[in-house]
Amino acid sequence: MKFFIDTADIDEIRDLAATGLVDGVTTNPSLIAKTGRNFLDVVEEICGVVDGPVSAECVATDHETMLKEGRKLAEIADNVAVKVPLTPDGLRTCKALSDAGTMGTVTLCFSSVQAVLAAKAGATFISPFVGRLEDIGEDGMQLIADICDIYANYDFGTEVLVASVRGPRHVALAAQLGADVATLPPNVLRQMFKHTLTDKGLDAFLADWAKTGQTIL
Ligand code: G3P
Repeated sequence: MKFFIDTADIDEIRDLAATGLVDGVTTNPSLIAKTGRNFLDVVEEICGVVDGPVSAECVATDHETMLKEGRKLAEIADNVAVKVPLTPDGLRTCKALSDAGTMGTVTLCFSSVQAVLAAKAGATFISPFVGRLEDIGEDGMQLIADICDIYANYDFGTEVLVASVRGPRHVALAAQLGADVATLPPNVLRQMFKHTLTDKGLDAFLADWAKTGQTIL
């Protein structure tokens, strides 16, 4: 299972990339706005830190302009995955970019049939939003299960990128379902390392070790 980081904060990305566990990055216009920085500069900088796919989102809503934006974003670095919304124009753009060999992430997916459309449009990643579905009382993880089941019936090649992740429990469930990728807010990745018994056990080991008076180095 791959882990992407869902942020445009370069300091967070550098810090978490140092764990060796980060396989890519996803951004969106809201995350870019939070940085207060120039979008193209931020994407270029992230692509220099992380080798894996870096999703950068188009903001036009019509196919022609979206395609121009997508081509411009794809020129930034080889690891840019152009992100488009799950609309007819977005999927048309995804198909055109995919035919030209550019990675595409289709975002704002809230149903399994939308995920089928994205796969047919040649998306590299389909990004279902589990947290936002739960915000309106729907079952986000059931959507992931449905998409994984459907994709297993075919040879689409599209990876399921679980997004709008709100905590480690979402990640565990996504892994159980065999989702290819989860994109994690930085705090969720940090929480995943934590367990009270790990801290407690380490304290006890170190206290006992100190009693031996030995050193390894
Ligand atoms: O990057 C897309 C997605 O992960 C957004 O999550 O928390 O804004 O619903 P959230």
